[in-house]
Amino acid sequence: MSVAAEDPATELARLAAEVAEHAERYHRDDAPTISDTEYDALIRRNAELEAAHPELTRADSPAGAVGAAPAAGFGKITHARPMLSLDNAFADGEVVDFVQRVRRFLRLAEDAPLALTAEPKIDGLSLSLRYEDGALVTAATRGNGAVGEDVTANVATVGDVPRRLPPGAPTVVEVRGEVYMAKADFLALNAAQAAAGGRTFANPRNAAAGSLRQLDVAITAERPLRFLAHGWGEMSALPADTQAGVMAIFANWGFPVSDRLTLCATLDEALAAYRGIETDRARLPFDIDGVVYKVDRLDLQARLGQVARSPRWALAHKFPAERATTRLLAIDIQVGRTGQLTPVARLEPVGVGGVIVINATLHNEDEIARKDVRVGDTVELQRAGDVIPQILGAVAGEGPRGEPFAFPTVCPACGSHAVREAGEVARRCTGGLICPAQRVERLRHFVGRRAFDIEGLGAERIELFVAEGLIATPGDMFRLAAHRDALVARKGFDAVSVDKLLAAIDARRSIGVDRFLFALGIRHVGEVVARDLARAFGTYDAFAEQVAAARAIAFERALGEGDDKARVRRAATLAGVFAIGGVGPEIASAIVDFFAEAHNVDLVADLRREVAVAPFAVATLTSAVTGKTVVFTGSLESMSRDEARAQAERLGARVAASVSAKTNIVVAGPGAGSKAAKAAALGIEVIDEAAWLALVAAAGS
Ligand code: IVH
Repeated sequence: MSVAAEDPATELARLAAEVAEHAERYHRDDAPTISDTEYDALIRRNAELEAAHPELTRADSPAGAVGAAPAAGFGKITHARPMLSLDNAFADGEVVDFVQRVRRFLRLAEDAPLALTAEPKIDGLSLSLRYEDGALVTAATRGNGAVGEDVTANVATVGDVPRRLPPGAPTVVEVRGEVYMAKADFLALNAAQAAAGGRTFANPRNAAAGSLRQLDVAITAERPLRFLAHGWGEMSALPADTQAGVMAIFANWGFPVSDRLTLCATLDEALAAYRGIETDRARLPFDIDGVVYKVDRLDLQARLGQVARSPRWALAHKFPAERATTRLLAIDIQVGRTGQLTPVARLEPVGVGGVIVINATLHNEDEIARKDVRVGDTVELQRAGDVIPQILGAVAGEGPRGEPFAFPTVCPACGSHAVREAGEVARRCTGGLICPAQRVERLRHFVGRRAFDIEGLGAERIELFVAEGLIATPGDMFRLAAHRDALVARKGFDAVSVDKLLAAIDARRSIGVDRFLFALGIRHVGEVVARDLARAFGTYDAFAEQVAAARAIAFERALGEGDDKARVRRAATLAGVFAIGGVGPEIASAIVDFFAEAHNVDLVADLRREVAVAPFAVATLTSAVTGKTVVFTGSLESMSRDEARAQAERLGARVAASVSAKTNIVVAGPGAGSKAAKAAALGIEVIDEAAWLALVAAAGS
């Protein structure tokens, strides 16, 4: 049995690869093999993991590929001319090389004139606006360059975008440029979002992308989006023969164009324009990340053409990340909703790139040690594109320094032990439900569909009840009836809804041991492991006895040893104690850690006074699949995955999440991807939903 949970780094790597593969099938082959919903689920899972483990965010994160795949819900638009990207330069020398390359390609002498335009490179989202016979017909995002998302309805709400061109404009005009949000508008939007309890954005670029790509156009309409033109796609006729000339005409037609566009007769003038824009960067109303140079003459642009996906006639000269130094006033520890302890640097306010910075992330304890930053130090920080600044390190100064930072081993929110598992960078609070930082999340898990499955008790109500002090532990949930009158009197509730909720809670006073173990939210004990434990022990009491034995051993072994190596050895021993396939050292150790906290023991005891934990229900039917391991993949038509799982288990099968050599049957619905392929490679039987239903029917008769 292989049920060891996939570790987050491995899962993120797998998600990145899967998303890339599906994005390619979608774009390159126009032949997606999974539904949009399944694709979205991959993206969501990735976002969830990144939120829980920000330090594991990959450079090739699917989340970073904004617009890589047109999102579900938006139509696709194939660009009449591909939307290209730009080659980057960081140093002046690379700009010199660029101009030389252009001259060589065109066989222009060193002293032949070669005018370049220079303009700010806005940090926004590129957009292509298509006009036919003077009317705006479509607006599309860049997408993968060839196919973008149809955001016509959204763009119609952006005031900067003309609906019509003046009479005399060519029949087909595609104006391209950036949709962006001004810095001040971004800050105001985030403040309003935060006040309303909505999501806030990391930077103006994300805010612009998130605001434009809304299925509900009314939301886009409320957002302060702007547009700036910088180029074009298909044109039935060009209104001028230079870059600067066309931009001037676009301005006449009513498009905003950069007021910082300069025509430079020489390379030196171009570099001077770069310096000028860099100097004024902080004063510009929007974020920019460099300067774009373009060969001005369009006949030369046409001759130069493109290499790969960038034009030979343009170059982005990027700004270095902005840096500043300030004093590190304190290092605070924040506890996330999943219990992760994150150190946050509190800084003496300092301006970096037009933003006043007072906080910066330090990621984790290793990072603090590596950079050796101490409270009281003068530190150098950097803000690169993002508004979340990064601390680079301490700047050598005079006088004595403070002590190295001692990372807490107890949770600052609840005082429970904060432990760091072998091989993990994050330290986590073990307080679980007693930790106010984690309480809501844990209770949500507890009442979730796969745990206690209490109908009518969603995230919002839990948050409300916790805030009002009505519940703090799972046991409290079963004592909610005591607050009936107070609840009925509340806004948004009445006697009928309250009684319905209380009845739903009462209906769960008896629960299977597998769901019970899963509901506790023990780290690494997911649904599959909980079921394995339940199957192996049968009853909660038998499980508890084993845990007590394991704890005794752990205690003995751990005496006098506090370091990570000791933890690994201890954990290995524990796995032996549990002696269940699928319960490796990591899981065994997590179980023992959970019950090592007195408050968890109290909490379980309290809960057991409220609910009866039923022994594991063994399969009631024997069938062709009894004892086999089944994997479901792809979408099922006649039932949900949950139902399929329950059905399989009733027949005595074990349902696994991923295909391995131990899998016996793979049930593949439409859109089955890598799992079905893997099964085929391993020579495992792959059947469709109809064949599965036939098996089920045969067992039932
Ligand atoms: S011209 C042939 N000019 O930067 C490509 N692009 O990194 C046409 N961008 O996809 C690009 N400001 O969305 C150009 N002044 C500017 C720009 C600009 C921002 C974006 C554009 C492009 C991306 C490439």
